Amino acid sequence: MTENNDVANPWEKKNQEMDLIKDKMSQIKHKIAVISGKGGVGKTLVTVNLAMALAKTGKKVGVFDADLTGPCVPKMLGLKGSRLEAGPAGIGPAEGPLGIKAVSMDFLLPSDEAPVIWRGPLKMGAIRQFLGEVAWGELDYLLVDLPPGTGDESLSILQLLPEMDGVVIVTIPSEVSQAVVKKAVTFARQMNVPVFGIVENMAGMICPHCGEMIEVFSKGGGAKVSDEMDVDLLGSIPMDPRIAADSDSGNPFVVSHPDSPAAKVFSEIVSEIKKRVE
Ligand SMILES: Nc1ncnc2c1ncn2[C@@H]1O[C@H](COP(=O)(O)OP(=O)(O)OP(=O)(O)O)[C@@H](O)[C@H]1O
Ligand SMILES: [Mg+2]
Repeated sequence: MTENNDVANPWEKKNQEMDLIKDKMSQIKHKIAVISGKGGVGKTLVTVNLAMALAKTGKKVGVFDADLTGPCVPKMLGLKGSRLEAGPAGIGPAEGPLGIKAVSMDFLLPSDEAPVIWRGPLKMGAIRQFLGEVAWGELDYLLVDLPPGTGDESLSILQLLPEMDGVVIVTIPSEVSQAVVKKAVTFARQMNVPVFGIVENMAGMICPHCGEMIEVFSKGGGAKVSDEMDVDLLGSIPMDPRIAADSDSGNPFVVSHPDSPAAKVFSEIVSEIKKRVE
């Protein structure tokens, strides 16, 4: 990535950066961010499976992993070890299954153990550079996977991509998560970004022995938030050991288990999103 130090006036520099980003985004039809209040609720899992579910319908899809300190998109897409290539048009994304393009901080790190220890301004600068320098080319959808909460990365993305089509908000049914996810809904609204709805993840688990549903967290948490915040519930995904194993092995379950209940939920979410944006 390059450093643009030759513009003295900070406003002029900002305008130039925005022009660069606009140019790089010009062939992308729709942009969607995946956010949450709490961490570990399944944002990356939702982003990656949403991307694959869209790609399965013939769409050209890119995934920007905006989680700079805990990037997991490459692992879940089976792209560990890929590198970004610089070309005449800009930085070239890695390419994964079904032609999905992906960009992640992980592709720039020397090893799995290497941490990114950056304060806010540096993180915001990195996001600006990624957005201004990655040559995505033509895409129907760019999905952005964010770290938890309403911090630097989320703020940067929503500020720098003002034409965001909408956000998908992920929660788990626990009361602890419900309390925090409301902040994410309010955050998106304050940033004037449409909220497509909530995906309730880890919504119960079928006991592999007796087939009975175990409500690991409180029941109906997603529906409750949807009611209280007047936002749609896009779908509920159960906890499933196959989902965890598929993520670990880099085979998103919408492809490896297309007939699973969770994969069907994703097809419905994709239809709903297409209805809203296309
Ligand atoms: N429904 C599910 N069934 C089984 N495992 C799941 C399910 N949802 C998520 N997981 C697993 O839980 C872990 C956390 O999910 P994920 O990394 O997507 O969360 P996250 O919200 O992106 O976390 P972070 O806040 O750190 O970015 C992963 O190992 C993932 O495979
Ligand atoms: Mg994540």
